[in-house]
Parts: sequence; structure tokens; C-alpha cells
Amino acid sequence: MPRFAVILPAAGSSARFGAPKLVQDLAGIPVIARAVLPFIQRADTHQILIATPNDPFATAGPSQQNLARLDNRLSAGRANELWDALSREPAVKNRLGGQIALVPGGPTRAESVWSALRRVPADVEWVAIHDAARPLVSQDLIDRTLAAAVEHGAAAPAVAVPWTIKQASGPLPARVEKTVARDALWALQTPQIMRRDRLLRAFDECIYPMQHITDDLQLLELAGEQAWLVAGDERNIKITTPQDLMLAETLLARR
Ligand code: CTP
Ligand code: MG
Repeated sequence: MPRFAVILPAAGSSARFGAPKLVQDLAGIPVIARAVLPFIQRADTHQILIATPNDPFATAGPSQQNLARLDNRLSAGRANELWDALSREPAVKNRLGGQIALVPGGPTRAESVWSALRRVPADVEWVAIHDAARPLVSQDLIDRTLAAAVEHGAAAPAVAVPWTIKQASGPLPARVEKTVARDALWALQTPQIMRRDRLLRAFDECIYPMQHITDDLQLLELAGEQAWLVAGDERNIKITTPQDLMLAETLLARR
């Protein structure tokens, strides 16, 4: 299997969580460190780029790939907070500034990914984009997504949608337009794995505003490229609300 660069978009504002969710403790290890750990345990991970909030700390040296930590601890911003959370896990701390680099993110998830993507060296053929808010990703999931990406060009894990879905426009109450066939719907997870150059080109060609781009395969679809889904994992949840953190604790306790 080829080596790949990992991009972790971590520049969000945790609005639905109500507090910075990526630095929260999850069974002794911060959420963001848990999202990084499975990748640093792999021999095929070339480097890990973490897109961090573009606050005064992050803009201290936006042209550099490794944003050196400011000595002045008073200038702590959200990027600094992420650095601290990452440093709490020794295996991650050892690689900060080396295999793991913090880069400035952007105002949307897509722009955060793009910012990191432009910093991936041209000789790295594949990129895996993984939400920093998914701390429970397994090696098996990474393996099968990578295998499908290499076979088909681009792949992501997905799980069946368990709900009955109605289509209706506008805020509720609203009149039902139709029931959507559930067997053709898949809820997307990460990592999403694709060729670096294809994704770069898809960004260049994208004519839609970046806030409409909610995942990375979508860019390839818009560029007319193939994208495949593989079996996701119900445990590979994204931390969105405090309830998700409680669920993650429970899932970890059962591992
Ligand atoms: N993300 C990012 N840059 C942004 C927005 C989001 O890198 N401008 C990242 C988040 O940090 C997260 C991932 O994309 O790891 C998925 O986004 P989401 O779960 O929506 O996180 P937030 O945007 O932080 O949460 P919310 O939408 O509730 O504010
Ligand atoms: Mg968001």
C-alpha cells in the first residue's frame, strides 16, 4: 500500500457542542489526540497536517509549515489550546513539529482542508482527510478505505441511514413532499482518501461557494471523478454535541 498524508480539519468553532470539543478529555486522552493516534501508529502515514483555527497564534507564521509555538503563554488562542491538548499525549507530543504539523485553517471545513492540502509535498500521491472530531476510527476502517481508494481512485466509509426520511422544504411545520427511498442513502464518515493532485485540481475547478462543500468526495464528484463508498463503522462517530462525547466514552469502555 502507498504512503499517504493525513489532513485533520480541526479549525471549527464547536458551536453545537457549546465549548471547544476537540480538547475535551475522552477517557484520559483529548479528542483530537485520539483522532491522531491511529495514524501515527501506521507505517504508511507520511505526515499529519492539522488545520487549526486561524487566530493570532496561527497567523504568527502562516507561511511556515510548522507553526512554532509562541514563547509568550499569554497569547494563548484556540490553536494554542489544540497544541496543549495534543501535547498531553506523549506519543503525539514527540511528533509535534516533526511528522505532525499545525497549519492555519480557513472559515469553512473545505477551506481548512484546502489550506492543508496545498502544503502536502508533491511526491505524496495520496491524502486521507479525517475529521479531528472522530476520535474512534479503527485501523480496519483505514485499511479498507485505503484499499478501495487505491482500487477506484477515491473512497470513503459510509453507514446505512437508519431513519425514515421525508422531504419537505423550509422550517417546520412543513407539508411533506415525499418519502425518500432509504436503501439508496448512505451517511458519510471519514477518512476520505483520494489522490492529492485530483483533489487539488477539483478545488481549482470548483465553482461553488466553499460553504456548500460539506465533504471532500463531493469536490471530486463535481469534477466528474469516481468516488466509492466502503463499509463504515457505527462506532466511528463524530463528536458534535455533548451527548456524542458521552456515547464515545461508553463505546471506549466496551472496546
Ligand atoms: N472544521 C474546520 N474548519 C472549519 C470548520 C470545521 O477544520 N472552518 C473541522 C472541525 O474542526 C471538525 C470537522 O471540520 O473537526 C467537522 O466539522 P464539525 O463537526 O461541524 O465541527 P465544528 O464546525 O467545530 O462544529 P459546529 O458546526 O457545531 O460549529
Ligand atoms: Mg461545522
